[in-house]
Amino acid sequence: MTSFTLLGALVFLAVSTTQVVAQNCACGYQDSNDNVWRESIVSDFTQPAGALAVVNKDWMVAADYERQDTGTSTADIQYIVENVFDYQGALGIRASAYNNSGSVYSGELDTQRSDILYGSFRMQGQVPTVPGVVFGFFTYFSDTQEQDIEFLSGDKNFKQEVHYTNQPGQLANGDDNPEVSKDVAVAGADFSKLGAGIHRIDWLPGATTYSYSGTSDSGASKNVPTTASQICLNVWSNGDPEFSGGPPTADPVATVQTMHLYFNSTTLSASKFNLACNKAGSVPLCKV
Ligand SMILES: *[C@@H]1O[C@H](CO)[C@@H](O)[C@H](O)[C@H]1NC(C)=O
Ligand SMILES: *[C@@H]1O[C@H](CO)[C@@H](O)[C@H](O)[C@H]1NC(C)=O
Repeated sequence: MTSFTLLGALVFLAVSTTQVVAQNCACGYQDSNDNVWRESIVSDFTQPAGALAVVNKDWMVAADYERQDTGTSTADIQYIVENVFDYQGALGIRASAYNNSGSVYSGELDTQRSDILYGSFRMQGQVPTVPGVVFGFFTYFSDTQEQDIEFLSGDKNFKQEVHYTNQPGQLANGDDNPEVSKDVAVAGADFSKLGAGIHRIDWLPGATTYSYSGTSDSGASKNVPTTASQICLNVWSNGDPEFSGGPPTADPVATVQTMHLYFNSTTLSASKFNLACNKAGSVPLCKV
């Protein structure tokens, strides 16, 4: 990419979002922890153009089949594009009520970009209320390079309970590793309300911090990924009584209003970024 097209891309990103309209963020973003990020993907699924228009710009919808041949799962997973849809003026992600086909029809979207390396990722959404699924918001490269925020609709306390994991989350004996796997109940929260707070993953070299509206912080300094990744959202079940529960007997739906991703990537080097910033007149950083 030449520095001119790069500059164009940065300015376009800045003007195509609702939060930073007319702001030129060519010199990057400063987050609430004073970390600086070069790039952003700001998806507001409540835009009048509809959630799927926003999905098509920066995301891919999964359609893969995942065989579940280990552990106590009772069904496979089939992601289908129909399970990512416009819903409640925002984005719906659902699993379908199980029809005994052998697979639970599930929903997932992933960033088109897989070059994201460190950043601050925020999701505002409403958790599913039908029991028997996992709603995940996570970074992913592989099953051992993965940071997860997960909600289990079958948790007794599902409106306040969130599971934070730097994978692998289990010890060799199969028990959860408390250093990287945390179950947090946020007193007073109601994750099932549309317009509830912001769930956030801050990924730095050697440290992951998980939080909800800044009120509950939980982190891990072990199993922190070091590989460029995608950011993903999904709702799935494999009928495993030990985790997802289900399969669901009605359609559990998560509703996502916004995804704000501020990050560095393996594509935009510091020198290319600095050049673009200089060309843009060294404008102030955008605060996020
Ligand atoms: C189960 O549901 C899926 C998704 O709607 C459909 O494609 C499939 O044909 C159904 N299978 C059975 C056995 O009803
Ligand atoms: C991200 O990029 C900014 C600007 O180049 C840099 O200051 C910062 O150290 C980078 N962060 C990480 C974690 O690499």
